[in-house]
Amino acid sequence: MKTQRIDKILGNMGYGTRKKVKYIIKDGRVKVNGELIKSSSIHVKPNEDTIEVDGEVLEYKEFIYIMMNKPQDVVSATFDHRDETVIDLLEPIHQVFEPFPVGRLDKDTEGLLILTNDGKLSHELLSPKKHVPKTYFACIDGMVGQKDIDSFEKGVILDDGYKTLPAKLKILKSDDTYEIELTIVEGKFHQVKRMFESVGKKVTYLKRISMGELSLDEDLELGEYRELTEEELDKLKNR
Ligand code: URA
Repeated sequence: MKTQRIDKILGNMGYGTRKKVKYIIKDGRVKVNGELIKSSSIHVKPNEDTIEVDGEVLEYKEFIYIMMNKPQDVVSATFDHRDETVIDLLEPIHQVFEPFPVGRLDKDTEGLLILTNDGKLSHELLSPKKHVPKTYFACIDGMVGQKDIDSFEKGVILDDGYKTLPAKLKILKSDDTYEIELTIVEGKFHQVKRMFESVGKKVTYLKRISMGELSLDEDLELGEYRELTEEELDKLKNR
């Protein structure tokens, strides 16, 4: 395993910014393999060396996996000049892992967003070849019926000429307003909105409710997040 700077490791473990970690080390609170260290630039092997802070041995964790219920008006990016980002919603102890959103939800889309610093998992979930299903709940302006179910099943042509892969449309409510669930296995830009546009209807509200085998925890309020459980992570990884 690669060596890593001790201040980076402690940062990842939630001990705060590099500056804060430097003070913790200067204060003589950190030992590596039983020896007190005074420099924050030393390199250690997090899986082999024993790191202690205030006498407690650290259990090292390299990756973080977060489920967020993304609210509207927040962008799925790590940085933005104008808007608040999903990273801004994280506590510093989670920001130090430098997570990024797995794919994007539009600024006005709510719901399940995974954030991680595990590039491999992110790549697998986003790879067009893997066809990871994503299910959305949406409110639609315009009547939705069997014809749309059939069209989405066959694939519809988007405004740029792209023909979508088969998608599953379920009509949940059909009176004065229409509520639906749509499962797609790809992730084109504004895909759900553009699919409805292609059949002459407008999405007025959009929320992602699942990705692969992972469903949004309905106990999470908008803007809230939590780390994935081991079981949820297995579901994502072994899909
Ligand atoms: N499809 C959309 O149109 N928007 C999203 O945010 C996600 C899927």
